[in-house]
Amino acid sequence: MKITTIILAAGKGTRMCSDIPKVLHKISNRPLLHHVYDMSNQLENNSIKIVVGHAADQVTDALKHFKADWVEQKQQLGTGHAVQQVSDQIADSDTVLILYGDVPLLKLATVKLLINNVNDRSLALLTVDLANPAGYGRIVRDASGQVIKIVEEKDATAIEKQINEVNTGIMAVQGKQLKKWLGSLNNSNVQGEYYLTDIIEMAVGDQVQIITSQPETEDEVLGVNNRIQLSHLERVYQREQAYSLMEQGVTLKDPMRFDQRGTIENLGQDIEIDINVILEGKNSIGNNVKIGANTSIKNSAIGDNVEILANCVIENAVIGQGSRIGPFARLRPESVLANNVHIGNFVEIKKSSIASGSKINHLSYIGDTTMGSNVNIGAGTITCNYDGVNKFRTVIEDGAFIGSDSQLVAPVTIGKNATIGAGSTITKDSPADQLTLSRAKQTSLAGWQRPVKMEK
Ligand code: UD1
Ligand code: CA
Repeated sequence: MKITTIILAAGKGTRMCSDIPKVLHKISNRPLLHHVYDMSNQLENNSIKIVVGHAADQVTDALKHFKADWVEQKQQLGTGHAVQQVSDQIADSDTVLILYGDVPLLKLATVKLLINNVNDRSLALLTVDLANPAGYGRIVRDASGQVIKIVEEKDATAIEKQINEVNTGIMAVQGKQLKKWLGSLNNSNVQGEYYLTDIIEMAVGDQVQIITSQPETEDEVLGVNNRIQLSHLERVYQREQAYSLMEQGVTLKDPMRFDQRGTIENLGQDIEIDINVILEGKNSIGNNVKIGANTSIKNSAIGDNVEILANCVIENAVIGQGSRIGPFARLRPESVLANNVHIGNFVEIKKSSIASGSKINHLSYIGDTTMGSNVNIGAGTITCNYDGVNKFRTVIEDGAFIGSDSQLVAPVTIGKNATIGAGSTITKDSPADQLTLSRAKQTSLAGWQRPVKMEK
């Protein structure tokens, strides 16, 4: 069976009050339309058609990597009109699945059920019972419970408006029949639109049975029309991810205060995550890792037994086993830490590799540096990697000890087991095993007196 999925995404989204087209607004850092695409992309033997209209160029540009055909609906004359734009790309034997680009959390299992309910004698319709059905098309059934039509809110009688079962807009139908019914749509209704929903009555007229199913939860079929609904679905999505992590052996101190905007490639066990942690992009997290509160981690690999204390910002970094980071540390891109490295408070690392057992515990900037093992960097050490035009590297060999408040002016090499005296500005290579220091000689003036306040 071949599937053609049509994703409707031509609408304007006026209530977003935005220059960004609605379907490009994001949940978990991914456009709404991207969620719908990813889900439908998991169906086998499926070709995806996306109907765009409002800000079509912006939408296709942003998502041009999709394996999908973009179909333009120049004027938005209704959902039926939108599907008509794809009509000539549908084969008679196709099962056509219709999705909305602004309904991001629909599940694959729900869609598969719809697809399995379609044949040349049946159409599958996804409905949901809502406590407040206002605004939706209502599902009208006959005395025997068979669906006979959908009536839009604006066209509904007072009695029809009391129906709680509504149309989600999502359906699956055989290609040949869909094309036939699309050809007979008209716009004689209150809104003057071509309603896709009118095909239900036509199907019933052709003795095609309407098979309804419902999603597991209402959230699956909720659309986004404004930013309040967007934030609601963001929280639903985040809660699902949080619960899934807990099911895989992660402790979350508060699943409602956790955000994962991306994927975890390798997930260890007995990971403990405190509140307000944000994981972005592609991360991997080893066993027994502890992540403190208010920390954000992006595109990074964290080894076993690593402890990240509160308030750290970590991006494109590798942290070896048993290392301890923070609190208040920043690991910028291309920071590669081997095992058992300690990075303490108010330390910034950039484009540097740090071998095992080295410690940078307080108030330092280490950039463009190759650091050996068991190095100790004193408080307030700065690698001066930039002369205002070019960047240079600092090399600090194994076992070196850098006294507090030193500046290492790159390019410079600090030899193996070298010691740098506190407060030094090092501009030349410092030999191995020696003490190097550069500071004015300390003097004391014996007869010196403090100034006294002058008489006015
Ligand atoms: C539609 C259904 C209604 C259902 C509701 C569920 C019809 C006539 N009505 O109503 O029964 O309860 O969805 O949310 O189908 N779109 C286009 N081109 C258009 C018009 C719409 O691509 O010309 C797209 C929109 O971008 C959106 C989707 O179709 O993704 C639904 O459009 P919307 O205007 O929200 O439909 P409703 O009138 O709310
Ligand atoms: Ca809508």
